[in-house]
Amino acid sequence: MPLDLPHTELAVSERGSGPAVVLLHGFPLSGAMWAAVEGTLTAGWRVVTPDLAGFGDSPPATGKPSLDRMADDVAALLDRLGLDRVVLAGLSMGGYVAMAFARRHRHRLGALALLDTKAGADAPAARETREEVARAVLAAGGVALRPMLHQVLGKTTRRERPEVVARVRGWLDTAPPEGVAWAQRAMAARPDSFGTLRGLDVPALVLVGDEDELAPVDEARAMAAALPQGDLMVVNGCGHLSAVERPDAVSEGLRGFLAGL
Ligand code: MLT
Repeated sequence: MPLDLPHTELAVSERGSGPAVVLLHGFPLSGAMWAAVEGTLTAGWRVVTPDLAGFGDSPPATGKPSLDRMADDVAALLDRLGLDRVVLAGLSMGGYVAMAFARRHRHRLGALALLDTKAGADAPAARETREEVARAVLAAGGVALRPMLHQVLGKTTRRERPEVVARVRGWLDTAPPEGVAWAQRAMAARPDSFGTLRGLDVPALVLVGDEDELAPVDEARAMAAALPQGDLMVVNGCGHLSAVERPDAVSEGLRGFLAGL
């Protein structure tokens, strides 16, 4: 699939050496959300953690908002790093980007891990909410995302992990408004990906926090069932941001997945 032009040249951090595993972050965060996981995966692996367009240290996305464009940015990054085929792991929005990558750059995908994400498209009401959020953040900045805090963190984290709550609140407050608005519009436009998953015969892990309210366990189960080689892992005591809330368990799950490839 030819890449859409122009691309956003993504900021990236790398560690380890070996075959590559690429970690795609969720909304409205950056590669920093993988901080407690990436270092645990380096035995035999080159761990590549980009900031998607408009987030972290990457420049803003340009053009019509679309996850295809974000997936093409990732493909262009792989070109830049000399990586032909990779394992992709994406959490939530990162999972949407990974599914778009699977549609557009299938031959470059060796295996796939989808964390706390959904294969279904948005219902019309959800699309409208995204547009409202986009406008609110453009008007008021990241603080307009504060109501998300309760949705993205599981009840166990909200009760028992104040340092995680404070960190995520800080990320929401400082989320870049243009990146947020562009990504909301891109996510609103995403298609249903169940057909993509059904045709994707590569090793696949679907991981979900048992307290995830945004991408619940039933959705994860349906995705694992759609994937010809899909395994399901449910992580206890965390919500939507599993890799931030329970990095120990997520690291263990990803290490086991990588070891089996
Ligand atoms: C995310 O965590 O990336 C978002 O919750 C995804 C979404 O808004 O659908």
